[in-house]
Amino acid sequence: MYGSGLWSMMGTALVFLLMLIPGIMGWGKEGHYATCKIAEGYLTGEALAAVKQLLPDSAEGDLASVCSWPDEIRFHYRWSSALHYVDTPDFRCNYEYCRDCHDSAGHKDRCVTGAIYNYTMQLSSYQDSIVESKYNLTEALLFLSHFIGDVHQPLHVGFTGDLGGNTIIVRWYRRKTNLHHVWDTMIIDSALKTFYNSDLTIMIHALQQNITNDWLNDASSWAICANNHTVCPEPYASESISAACKFAYRNATPGSTLGDEYFLSRLPVVEKRLAQGGVRLAATLNRIFSSQPKIAVARR
Ligand SMILES: *[C@@H]1O[C@H](CO)[C@@H](O)[C@H](O)[C@H]1NC(C)=O
Ligand SMILES: *[C@@H]1O[C@H](CO)[C@@H](O)[C@H](O)[C@H]1NC(C)=O
Ligand SMILES: *[C@@H]1O[C@H](CO)[C@@H](O)[C@H](O)[C@H]1NC(C)=O
Ligand SMILES: *[C@@H]1O[C@H](CO)[C@@H](O)[C@H](O)[C@H]1NC(C)=O
Ligand SMILES: [Zn+2]
Repeated sequence: MYGSGLWSMMGTALVFLLMLIPGIMGWGKEGHYATCKIAEGYLTGEALAAVKQLLPDSAEGDLASVCSWPDEIRFHYRWSSALHYVDTPDFRCNYEYCRDCHDSAGHKDRCVTGAIYNYTMQLSSYQDSIVESKYNLTEALLFLSHFIGDVHQPLHVGFTGDLGGNTIIVRWYRRKTNLHHVWDTMIIDSALKTFYNSDLTIMIHALQQNITNDWLNDASSWAICANNHTVCPEPYASESISAACKFAYRNATPGSTLGDEYFLSRLPVVEKRLAQGGVRLAATLNRIFSSQPKIAVARR
């Protein structure tokens, strides 16, 4: 009795500690899987061939199966930890690359949008493979696919003061957790249980249906980057902090209990962000691996 009580106390303390580590997660495994699975459906033949060539054997040809890899190695590759998110000034509800894209030690470009430029630039050397690339393009592909997902999670572009909602402790129904985790994982988990028979495939199918029906007009504009740029994470980050202020932080003060009202009103936001991430990841990979003459990867 005493022993098991102690173990469960230690377990609770450990889970709690882990929850407090800034930005410990991206979208959870399901969110990244959904984004990458949706992207797979929109790849051109050229892009699909390049992706398959770069994927590790363990992926068995399926990009979605390895889209959470950067989360799995982030404690091993400690330098990569800051690349999953960008923190913005408290309550400003906007994002600016020059002001915000740095890690907690102030090193420039070390944030999710900086990383998206970085790995796009690396993958753009794929065509000139006569000389062996100085980058590991397998890692570049997995990082890029993961970070385009992360930048669409509103609280990955949250406030500095609460570490993107990580320090805002709330209840999700009866369970104690933090606001960041609610947006990474809990909303998706509850949706799976409530609406999709706990089957991620069904949820992904519903998102794909919406992309080709209800969201068709929007979805074609999601894919576009202004000025023919290869990649354009700036508007994605701006949309995220805007959604964070409008939907994630609203009515989610420390100590509050989030239930049906919060869940049902925020789920459509989460679903649209997953779909946007997927469509934009595909469009980005299609531009990177297109044999059309390339315009340089411009920054900002
Ligand atoms: C760019 O990629 C390299 C190789 O993974 C990594 O060492 C570096 O930290 C990255 N920098 C940014 C800003 O993403
Ligand atoms: C590239 O990275 C992957 C994943 O970390 C690793 O398994 C592989 O050995 C690396 N390739 C090279 C050539 O270093
Ligand atoms: C699909 O779109 C409709 C209308 O916008 C929305 O009510 C529904 O929740 C969406 N479903 C998914 C899975 O995104
Ligand atoms: C984008 O590129 C296409 C094809 O290279 C070109 O026809 C078009 O004028 C370009 N648009 C802009 C805004 O640069
Ligand atoms: Zn992540």
